[in-house]
Amino acid sequence: MIFRQLFDHESSTYTYLLADRKGGEALLIDPVLEQTDKYVRLVEELGLRLVMAVDTHIHADHVTALGALRDHTGCATAMGEQTKADCVSLRLRDGERVRIDDLALEVLYTPGHTDDSYSLLLPDRVFTGDTLLIRGTGRTDFQNGDPAAQYDSLFGRLLRLPDDTFVYPAHDYNGMTVSTIGEEKAHNPRLQVRGKQEYVELMNGLVLSSPRLMDVAVPANRACGRKSA
Ligand SMILES: [Fe+2]
Repeated sequence: MIFRQLFDHESSTYTYLLADRKGGEALLIDPVLEQTDKYVRLVEELGLRLVMAVDTHIHADHVTALGALRDHTGCATAMGEQTKADCVSLRLRDGERVRIDDLALEVLYTPGHTDDSYSLLLPDRVFTGDTLLIRGTGRTDFQNGDPAAQYDSLFGRLLRLPDDTFVYPAHDYNGMTVSTIGEEKAHNPRLQVRGKQEYVELMNGLVLSSPRLMDVAVPANRACGRKSA
């Protein structure tokens, strides 16, 4: 497998490039508009062909490169079926598999951070978007966020994966790049709760400022990062 973890400093976003083999198909997860040229160059350098770009949810902190990548490469653009982005060519559903040559990513609906939040699972790793972060979880106070739904996504789904499953989130603000399910279960402070009620109270008690780019990013991302919404 070809795997690259790419970082956008401005928004602390991780973008993942995945391919099964050299010369084959490639997938990008959570690409950032300003980094489009870098992705296109890297895909070329690795001898790959970009067939799909997927966002784990509508981001509020950066503008997506889905539309730009579609225009550059003709790739498919995908988000979960709940998305309000009507520009995507594919709407993913819980339980289906996204295939890139012989790689099959299982689509997991993991709402809570937003109502259109998904995770993507390979046998040894999971891309958790903003549902599960390293030593944190995605905020639930806007974009139809719901701490109770997030509790179910975390405790009912993601934390039931094998402990040695690698966790690759959409962001990290502390310089961490990867974790595992077991490590997060043991050391993620948001997960040390006795039940749903306590988690909901914890999340509702957070005082957070709005993302700097929210008013720009959310409407732009509903149009796959292209100007007109
Ligand atoms: Fe987010």
